[in-house]
Amino acid sequence: MSEKGHIPSHIAIIMDGNGRWARRRGFARFRGHRAGAESVREITRECAKKHLKQLTLYAFSQENWKRPQREINLLMKLLKDFLIKERKEINDNNIRLTAIGRVSELPEDVQKELAITMELSKNNTGMILCLALNYGGRAEIVDVTREIAKDVRNGKINLDEITEDTFKKHLYMRDMPDPDLLIRTGGDMRVSNFLLWEISYTELWVTPVCWPDFRKAHLEEALKDYARRERRFGGLRE
Ligand code: IPE
Ligand code: IPE
Ligand code: MG
Repeated sequence: MSEKGHIPSHIAIIMDGNGRWARRRGFARFRGHRAGAESVREITRECAKKHLKQLTLYAFSQENWKRPQREINLLMKLLKDFLIKERKEINDNNIRLTAIGRVSELPEDVQKELAITMELSKNNTGMILCLALNYGGRAEIVDVTREIAKDVRNGKINLDEITEDTFKKHLYMRDMPDPDLLIRTGGDMRVSNFLLWEISYTELWVTPVCWPDFRKAHLEEALKDYARRERRFGGLRE
């Protein structure tokens, strides 16, 4: 049971509201995505400074392929630019970059830059920055189920030996601690298929602030709120 006053070791963020941010200013949606990249930089830097273990960012969902091709192309271009431009800063800050999601379905040039940045930072010992790319929570559960079924078929494990722990070991990132805090910007009260297995006992915090406006002060506000909460995990207060 965790005590009040704690700082989360793993924060996950649904970075939403880029389109609305742009629309309110009379800009094209793309301008919102571009401005959002600046928030990614600032929040990553802040979280690393606070010695978080992990920051997981929902950057592109499996359902986001439903958007117009033009917007998808621009998002992929921004992602690629981010992976190239931020490589040095990631490395200088001892951050290890990882990714979750069906990465093999991303455009090849994006996959290539992702692989380079991951390889370059793989021995870093500081915060883990995990990007959820072509990620879907249900898809992850399906992928885990397939892996376990394969192990059963090959006689590596018996059916009655499957536990929650077996499941956890087959997740996209097997050594990922469950998020302590899930932040959603843009005000919508939903999880949009993000980390369904992993957020069972995660504390939720939603702000109406759109992602491109999300700054250090908003993060501090979320952390202050988190610190006041008592996590009981189904038990009783002490
Ligand atoms: C989040 O902003 C970014 C992605 C989903 C890639 P949106 O593009 O969803 O912005 P809104 O929700 O339309 O304002
Ligand atoms: C969630 O935002 C996905 C990301 C932030 C990458 P969406 O804008 O796609 O979610 P919905 O459609 O509002 O549920
Ligand atoms: Mg949205």
